[in-house]
Amino acid sequence: MDKGNTYEVKDLKLAEQGKKNIELAESHMGALLTVKRRFEKEKPLKGIRIGLALHVTKETAVLIGTLIAGGAEVAITGCNPLSTQDDVAAALAKEGVRVWAYKGESKEDYYRYITSVIAFRPHITIDDGCDLVSEIHKRHTQLIPEIIAGCEETTTGIIRLKAMEKDKALKYPMIAVNDNKTKHLLDNYYGTGQSTIDGILRATNVLFAGKNVIVAGYGSCGKGVSMRARGFGANVIITEVDNFRALQARYDGFAVMPMTEAVAKGDIFITVTGDKHVLRKEHFQAMKDGAMLANSGHFDIEIDLEGLKAISKDVRRMRPFLDEYTLTSGRRVYVCGEGRLVNLAAAEGHPSEVMATSFCGQALACEYAVRNRGKMRPDVITLPEEIDDRIAALQLQAMGITIDQLTPDQKKYLSSWEEGT
Ligand SMILES: NC(=O)c1ccc[n+]([C@@H]2O[C@H](COP(=O)([O-])OP(=O)(O)OC[C@H]3O[C@@H](n4cnc5c(N)ncnc54)[C@H](O)[C@@H]3O)[C@@H](O)[C@H]2O)c1
Repeated sequence: MDKGNTYEVKDLKLAEQGKKNIELAESHMGALLTVKRRFEKEKPLKGIRIGLALHVTKETAVLIGTLIAGGAEVAITGCNPLSTQDDVAAALAKEGVRVWAYKGESKEDYYRYITSVIAFRPHITIDDGCDLVSEIHKRHTQLIPEIIAGCEETTTGIIRLKAMEKDKALKYPMIAVNDNKTKHLLDNYYGTGQSTIDGILRATNVLFAGKNVIVAGYGSCGKGVSMRARGFGANVIITEVDNFRALQARYDGFAVMPMTEAVAKGDIFITVTGDKHVLRKEHFQAMKDGAMLANSGHFDIEIDLEGLKAISKDVRRMRPFLDEYTLTSGRRVYVCGEGRLVNLAAAEGHPSEVMATSFCGQALACEYAVRNRGKMRPDVITLPEEIDDRIAALQLQAMGITIDQLTPDQKKYLSSWEEGT
């Protein structure tokens, strides 16, 4: 480990590689770069301290560059023990950014680093999964009067925040960046769709064509994963607990059945529910020999690994990010990425293009928070639709795509009721 006053990273010598990867990411993040150029001129975040607990990836580094261009000071740690890209963390540390993160963090280091970000006394928090906000509310409430707002990146974080809001435990406003259309309908769908398959391939190099792939959860992430798995020639089966989502899955052409039934058919299982113990003892026991399990939901509890260990007589690491569990029955089950977000543990997370729009959401949410300082209630709030629309327009522009505009006559027609049959 390399340590200094403002950083703790794996190896500073990786910085040069990290810098190149950040450059590559930047070249696909046109929308965010447009925001960065405006921020450089207008400095909307001048004097603002922003504390982040986000996956420390090359795309996050581009977000950090954007916030700094806007005049902010930043401090960052990871939001998952296996998602940090060590070269990127090193590059950030070399550039003087406060950063505490390494891939494979212990739970103790994970929370120690969150405490370092909290000690920076952020005016704005940016979270992916709500751990930073949760720590501030549990142990550092004295900081709350100084905090303008928080921004949350993922579905699981929003679920936790809404529970806090319901219990009247939320003490500062939280902007649900995940709820932007340009986030959950692009990042969760196209991002998780591609990068989850990428993670499984890097961990196993298994052929998807002809396999039965069971996808648990048909939300934005599950839809993306199912679509991509089908694209690879897999036979996709969906499990759900929500009637409407199950119906959608069926109409999209997938078989739908309970896990107890799917379990005997599956070659590859992918959980993307945000729920716990979606795969558990009774399921493992009924799986085929050689079944492969991966999770792309936020926490590592979707696959009950304790339950799996309890019915296993042997566990071997076969290669990085692939563990073999031999059950007492003699059948083997393979777990990718220790049951953590497989796309970040075994691959590089989402492609830069989708992170461009997700992180425009974060940058513009910070600007919105500063502009509306003191005016927002301590609730979970969504950004105005106009901001979401602007983000889509920026990315289209970056991709050189133009679209039609409504004629005045069409505008009138679409906002009136008189014209009919
Ligand atoms: N891997 C990534 O990079 C990434 C990116 C975005 C979101 N996420 C995470 O992925 C998870 C899913 O996100 P989403 O946006 O698709 O959420 P979502 O709420 O849109 O969808 C989740 C779906 O899972 C279903 N579900 C819940 N419990 C279930 C169970 N026991 N069995 C079967 N289905 C069940 C729900 O009914 C729902 O339809 C969250 O934890 C989110 O934070 C991960």
